[in-house]
Amino acid sequence: MTPELPRPAWRDELVDEYAALSERLSSRIPCFEVPLHLPWIDAINRLKKQRGAVIMAHSYQSPEIFHGVADVTGDSLGLAQAASECDADLILLCGVHFMAESAKILAPNKTVLIPSLEAGCSLASSITAEDVQGLRRRHPGAPVVSYANTSAAVKAESDAVCTSANAVQVVESMGADKVIFLPDQFLGRHVAAQTTVELVLWSGRCEVHEKFTVSQARHAREQFDARLVAHPECSPDVLAEVDFVGSTTAMGRWLEQEKPARVALITECSMADNLRVQFPAIEFVKPCQLCPHMQQITLPNIYAALRDLQHEVDVPEPIADRARVALRRMLDIGRREAVR
Ligand code: 13P
Ligand code: SF4
Repeated sequence: MTPELPRPAWRDELVDEYAALSERLSSRIPCFEVPLHLPWIDAINRLKKQRGAVIMAHSYQSPEIFHGVADVTGDSLGLAQAASECDADLILLCGVHFMAESAKILAPNKTVLIPSLEAGCSLASSITAEDVQGLRRRHPGAPVVSYANTSAAVKAESDAVCTSANAVQVVESMGADKVIFLPDQFLGRHVAAQTTVELVLWSGRCEVHEKFTVSQARHAREQFDARLVAHPECSPDVLAEVDFVGSTTAMGRWLEQEKPARVALITECSMADNLRVQFPAIEFVKPCQLCPHMQQITLPNIYAALRDLQHEVDVPEPIADRARVALRRMLDIGRREAVR
């Protein structure tokens, strides 16, 4: 735990210097909170410049982080790509631990920091490298595709990594009739419905997305007349109710194309806050499930991470080397798709 840091001093000039940001934040978080965040945002942005650091933030980060201090924002695929192409020597990853590990694996010569070591993930902790070895023994010859939400040790045991944005392409790229797909059983069932490849699934679940229910989805449609969009980590029953199922980035693209008057995003709550900036004409019915792991990242611990260069993410070389092969396989598929 980072000891409580004294808040940087308020300066009246912050009002003018951060006028545009304050306006953006005021529509997302209670407006009396904005002046509490500005001294931290200012101190972090100054320190970031001094250190020559790049701050990367996942779409589930709080609006004051996402809009206030991040240089790069995106889903887990976007952050992995950004890390692999990053020029800066210091990357501060505002997200959960597996994302910081992926950044370190793809940028082995850079220093990668995560502001809190408490930022885990229920999917990543649902499976170990030994579990993967056991699955391989039970299904000889079947390649392993692991969701990005896994530890580096699990990725090292895998043939390829995928995210929810590219899971079907990665599974089909293996050229096998049967693929071991782990660890998210709900994403696995969603992928299985879109391919003829037989999938062997694991029992992992996202502790945030599994909480959404069919009655909540129906309520949003009936009471608010909202179109429904859900992340594939939700249960199949919930996914059957919605207009569109997609990854974090695909949801944004769907909103761009469909331009619904009102939408309920059945996913982590900060995502709706952050997308509202991009789509001011759309009314968002906001869910209230926050990821407790993503919430471990705060402005004070981002500041402490930059000041004290903590917590450095390290992946032992033999594991990193094997995990990199699996991660690169995913990124190469993405590049091939992009040039089509
Ligand atoms: P994305 O791959 O869409 O970024 O999702 C990551 C995640 O943790 C979803 O819960
Ligand atoms: Fe993991 Fe779920 Fe949190 Fe995403 S939302 S980081 S899958 S626990």
